[in-house]
Amino acid sequence: MASSNGPLRVAAIGDLHVQEDSVAPYRELFAEVSNHADVLLLCGDLTNFGKTTEAEILAEDIKSCSVPVLGVLGNHDYECGQPEKVVEILRGAGMIVLDEQAHEIDGVGFAGVKGFMGGYGRGELAPFGEPIAKLFVDEAMNEARKLENQLRTLRTERSVAVLHYSPIVDTIEGEPEAIFQYLGSQRLCDPIDRFDHVKAVVHGHAHHGTYEGRTPRGTPVYKVAQFVVKPKFGRRYALLEI
Ligand SMILES: [Fe+2]
Ligand SMILES: [Fe+2]
Repeated sequence: MASSNGPLRVAAIGDLHVQEDSVAPYRELFAEVSNHADVLLLCGDLTNFGKTTEAEILAEDIKSCSVPVLGVLGNHDYECGQPEKVVEILRGAGMIVLDEQAHEIDGVGFAGVKGFMGGYGRGELAPFGEPIAKLFVDEAMNEARKLENQLRTLRTERSVAVLHYSPIVDTIEGEPEAIFQYLGSQRLCDPIDRFDHVKAVVHGHAHHGTYEGRTPRGTPVYKVAQFVVKPKFGRRYALLEI
């Protein structure tokens, strides 16, 4: 295990999409991760439809991981309208599901939210006009607020922000430009760039695109969706030193 002063080895994988007919889909992978990393981050879309049976299958595999597992839900985990049940099952297996409260492991802080869509720069949806348009934008703002509140509570010199949606355009380059606004929100970037201790951001959601980018302030952002990581590294998870 890393000391509180040395680098922490962080494995990260997004978009697991566990299905109800899967048989121990991540058991071997999580066991392998335990040999190479001090912490495992799961970046949302843990299940395919947010079914409890899917969550139970993943929960069993999480038990095979001997290092702490932290993470956030993705939009797929909301599909059945019972994300709180998915969270309960995963927490029951020992996973730390980030949403309202940051967590610290060996001197490194972890803050995480699912995030939301809404777009970037000139293409960003504004909270204007119809109530439903304002509600839509509110969701992204609320997620950014939750992330900021978690980051503010951390007293560590190093931290990692864990997201499902992308805070920047760089890591979704390669996806069709027409869907950029559904892949994330620039509003998630503001809290990240406000705190010196954020050393890296990991996210999923877009199954194609680019592995690495940076926030406007220069903080590295890694898109760890397994479909992007696998062709690049020959394994389904990213490994970072924080
Ligand atoms: Fe996904
Ligand atoms: Fe997603």
